[in-house]
Amino acid sequence: MDVAVIGTGHVGLVTCVALTHLGHNVAGTDSDGEKITLVQRGGSPFHEPGLDDLLSQRVATGSLVFHREIADVVPGSEMVFICVGTPPRADGDASLLSVERSAREIARHATGSVVVVEKSTVPVGTAARLRTILLQERPDLDFEVVSNPEFLREGSALRDTLEPDRILVGAETTRGFDAMRRLYEPLTRRGIPLIETDLMTAELAKHACNAFLALKISFANAMARICDRAGADVVRVADIMGADPRIGRAFLDAGLGYGGFCFPKDLAAFERLVERLGAELPLLREIARINEEAVQSAAQNVKEALWNLEDKRIALLGLAFKPDTDDVRFAPALALARLLVAQGAHVLGYDPKAAANAKAELPELEVSVDPYDAAAGANCVVLCTEWQEFRALDLERLKNIMAYPLVIDGRNFFDPQIMRKLGFTYYPTGRPPVVPHRAAT
Ligand code: UGA
Repeated sequence: MDVAVIGTGHVGLVTCVALTHLGHNVAGTDSDGEKITLVQRGGSPFHEPGLDDLLSQRVATGSLVFHREIADVVPGSEMVFICVGTPPRADGDASLLSVERSAREIARHATGSVVVVEKSTVPVGTAARLRTILLQERPDLDFEVVSNPEFLREGSALRDTLEPDRILVGAETTRGFDAMRRLYEPLTRRGIPLIETDLMTAELAKHACNAFLALKISFANAMARICDRAGADVVRVADIMGADPRIGRAFLDAGLGYGGFCFPKDLAAFERLVERLGAELPLLREIARINEEAVQSAAQNVKEALWNLEDKRIALLGLAFKPDTDDVRFAPALALARLLVAQGAHVLGYDPKAAANAKAELPELEVSVDPYDAAAGANCVVLCTEWQEFRALDLERLKNIMAYPLVIDGRNFFDPQIMRKLGFTYYPTGRPPVVPHRAAT
């Protein structure tokens, strides 16, 4: 099929590459001209495992092309995906300005009846508005609006798109469903379920999924606070809960909490939506509050351990909001850094991919070239993002170069027994600490 994709951010670019991988011809566009120049050469504007290779291959074969203008990608396309950003407004609501503009441009440049696919995460009712706009602009054309929310995670976005647990399609007519069935036939042929539902249900289900995943994380973090007081071990609690298939172990890892450009903003937007619908779900606010508390609690641990933070060097290992990405938007590591900097600490950070983005976001942060560079002379190391490469850390060396061997583990990454053996003062999250000496300054 001939497909156009508007917006080449994380979701859009992965969609472009994945659809060409499934055998379709894709033309992508973005309002950021520099980004288009880069992707036209086959380069990815962000780090996502496997994306660079597949992107450059597809661009080289010509099945994936990029243009600066929507006017250059819409004519002749049977299907147009809207993958533009829906950033949060000051009140937490999602800004749908780019979505609306995209719809108007699609209508202006469509040469025939087009299936418009809403891929960006949007509040329920957005598809209905899109249809109104398309018809206002071009009453002569027969548009179909389809909701096809994505469930990809940064860091495993290609795998999540090419081997999804399920594909969700919300539509209103057979034509819309048929187009989506044809598009995803290479996946459904392999047994991947395609769930068909109405537009409103598809839109709402996406918010429900993200809210529930965030709820699991916040539940684990609330348990961590209680385990800290009770002297219990939150990792074992999560294992025991997760052994029940009705609960499941995934997303019960306590730590610094969730970040990224999805959960925080989607939860806030969902809260606004619920309000607009005249309903109530105070649970959403509580999930966000517990998430903020996770970072505050880590900052408190640092302060408890180091007493006065002025003149103290604190090294953060991992700055991205999760491993395998260079994305630092709403990253818990940066939220923690801000709290520590505000109290006068000298904060250094190392990240395998996200250091430059972190520095741009928080200029007070000193970025280091490797974990040892960050830890040299540090009064405390905080593990913020569980990058696999930290598994290979020489902990003995780390201990010897620190001013004081104090580690705060914001992801329960290290083995407390090993930390004890090496002589660290070690504070995991929601697990009994390892404290060889009473005072640690
Ligand atoms: C999330 C969802 O997982 C995707 O299904 C969804 O498509 C995407 O949002 C979206 O709406 O676009 P993503 O934000 O990329 O994906 O990453 P996750 O793997 O979900 O991690 C989110 C945050 O939760 C990270 O900061 C991670 O460190 C944190 N997390 C995750 C925990 O603190 N504990 C856990 O047990 C799991």
